[in-house]
Amino acid sequence: MADVAFFNDADFEEYRKLIYGESGITFTATNRAILESRLKERLREKNLTSVKAYFEIISKDKEELKAFLDSITTNLTRFFRNQAHFDALEKFVTPELIKIKKASGNTTLKIWSAGCSTGEEPYTIAMLMSEILPPPWKFEVVASDISLKCLMTAKGGFYAENRIVGIPDNYLKKYFDKTEGGYKIHADIQSKIRFDYHNLKNDSGLRNMDLVFCRNVIIYFDEAAQTAVINRFWDSMANKSFLFIGHSESLFGMDTKFEFVKTEWATLYRKFI
Ligand SMILES: C[S@@+](CC[C@H](N)C(=O)[O-])C[C@H]1O[C@@H](n2cnc3c(N)ncnc32)[C@H](O)[C@@H]1O
Repeated sequence: MADVAFFNDADFEEYRKLIYGESGITFTATNRAILESRLKERLREKNLTSVKAYFEIISKDKEELKAFLDSITTNLTRFFRNQAHFDALEKFVTPELIKIKKASGNTTLKIWSAGCSTGEEPYTIAMLMSEILPPPWKFEVVASDISLKCLMTAKGGFYAENRIVGIPDNYLKKYFDKTEGGYKIHADIQSKIRFDYHNLKNDSGLRNMDLVFCRNVIIYFDEAAQTAVINRFWDSMANKSFLFIGHSESLFGMDTKFEFVKTEWATLYRKFI
């Protein structure tokens, strides 16, 4: 078994820098133990005992680096997480977007769930939009993450019994099939979502998004990396579009052009040129 006593301060510094440079995810003395335990698991899987040897591998092998980054992510999520955001989406954001876009004749809302983990967030968005959008309005969702394992689960659309808590009964009946040990989301909801590997450290190439959800993701980045990610969202978004970030995250004091919007339900951000 790997001996993480070998994981000395210099090793930590090397790994910390690499992870930060590759993903924006920030490890400090406070969460060093998390990195150590994930690394320990990774070494065990690879049958290695030296963190130095593993560092050599991930410095050269892009696929292994991806797998390593995947292993250090925190993927906690759930359906309808922070209901207040979905209330704001239904009661304020969607009517606003419809009002704005009406004049353009473009009746498709483009939505991005950035850091979508195992899919609960984009599926929640897709179910809600299916419920509330009046014809002829349509929507499409791009859901991205740096974790390939999470994306596979998301694409599968199957959730065990203990993962479906929070889904209102009427949604569960309407949008899922009960299968052995859990529930499978309907194909028509799945067809509204394109799941993609994307590292938020890079430009996504997405443009003119009407709505971006990036919740509980930048919390793992330091301020410089947060600012860079948030400013990249700006480039991906349409004028007068909306950005939701996690409820314990904030753009306060950050060098960005987003406007703060306080609604009756939740606070969010808006691109306004
Ligand atoms: C805690 S989950 C949040 C999931 C969902 N947005 C929610 O609020 O329930 C954070 C997700 O961000 C992803 N993530 C972390 N760093 C990332 C990066 N640099 N690029 C893309 N995704 C990243 C992780 O893999 C993880 O799935």
